[in-house]
Amino acid sequence: MLVDGQHYRTIWEHPTPGRPNTSRGGGDTSGGPDTIRIIDQRHLPFEFVIEDLKTVEDFARAITDMHVRGAGLIGAAAGYGMYIAALLPEATNIAAFDAAIELAAKQLTATRPTAVNLTHAVDRQLAAITAAASVQQKRQAALHTARAIADEDAAACSAIGNHGLPLIKKISERKPGQPVNVLTHCNAGWLAFVDHGTATSPIYAAHDAGIPVHVWVDETRPRNQGASLTAWELANHGVPHTVIADNTGGHLMQHGMVDLAIVGSDRTTRAGDVANKIGTYLKALAAHDNNVPFYVALPSSTIDWSITDGLADIPIEQRHPDEVRFIQGAANGKMETVLLTPPDSPAANYAFDVTPARLVTALITERGLCPPREDKILELFPERRQR
Ligand code: MRU
Repeated sequence: MLVDGQHYRTIWEHPTPGRPNTSRGGGDTSGGPDTIRIIDQRHLPFEFVIEDLKTVEDFARAITDMHVRGAGLIGAAAGYGMYIAALLPEATNIAAFDAAIELAAKQLTATRPTAVNLTHAVDRQLAAITAAASVQQKRQAALHTARAIADEDAAACSAIGNHGLPLIKKISERKPGQPVNVLTHCNAGWLAFVDHGTATSPIYAAHDAGIPVHVWVDETRPRNQGASLTAWELANHGVPHTVIADNTGGHLMQHGMVDLAIVGSDRTTRAGDVANKIGTYLKALAAHDNNVPFYVALPSSTIDWSITDGLADIPIEQRHPDEVRFIQGAANGKMETVLLTPPDSPAANYAFDVTPARLVTALITERGLCPPREDKILELFPERRQR
């Protein structure tokens, strides 16, 4: 997407000085990049900071501390983290190489538990690297795979926009001249993926097609991804939006002020249960009670094909309680952190919740829409019939 007129993805290769730039589609790893760049999202919306990642530790820290976040981007970062692990200069023989790769896989997998894209990316890299014979070929395979994970994520998100657009168009035709009001939660925007986003992709497609849209942006406590990231994205793209406190959605739905909700997903079961940012479940309940269609937009890379029961089988990340006790914002142009609670009050910080499939109107995937049911999901992804 564009930032100040320049196209950015959320993660990209930085050519190594003195080496030929083979960063797009080269396949010659001897000239491959040794630095990967990301947008350090902790500084948004106040500062646009680019960070260089050069070691597996850099990647692990960036994912754990949420310089990068969002299922698709976590997966892409893990893919590039494995590639950077494969470049370790001491890993010159196969045994040392395999040990370094195994360690990197463990380090990266341990960073965040809920978004399944992380383990998908690490497992895909392990399979690609294992299948190659020499260290040089393994490095080439790792670069190729990291690029494929990132490119597939961007392509899937773009396709989600095309498949979701008719939903917004149809509502718009029923209320000519008035904006379609979409409610979204957290940031399932381009910042959460490699490009385009999931929940935001149909919104951008509608806006670009000249359909009037307005987005209700849940602030998304405790880390405020809605207020700081989704609002920033939408403002950048010129999409009308209003930031609301997390508890507002139900009231808006009761008063006919939400035409549809579109949210993202960090892990989806093969039966259509959806883990997404904490608070999504309450929005789905309110939507159900008010007959507001509730869509979940997701690339199939967020489907965990090994599970059916979201409540039982999806690990829910618990983050540091200080993310609840404190809040960050800008004061006099400087990022400040202030305490919200009595100093000794304990806090709990569950980062995700599970919305049961029965509350979801449909899934918007890169292959089209489907009801959140195993048989229907498998009609779109028949290659996943066998577990
Ligand atoms: O904790 P985060 O910011 O990594 O959470 C991910 C999210 O932004 C949301 O849950 C989002 O709605 C899903 S899209 C990856």
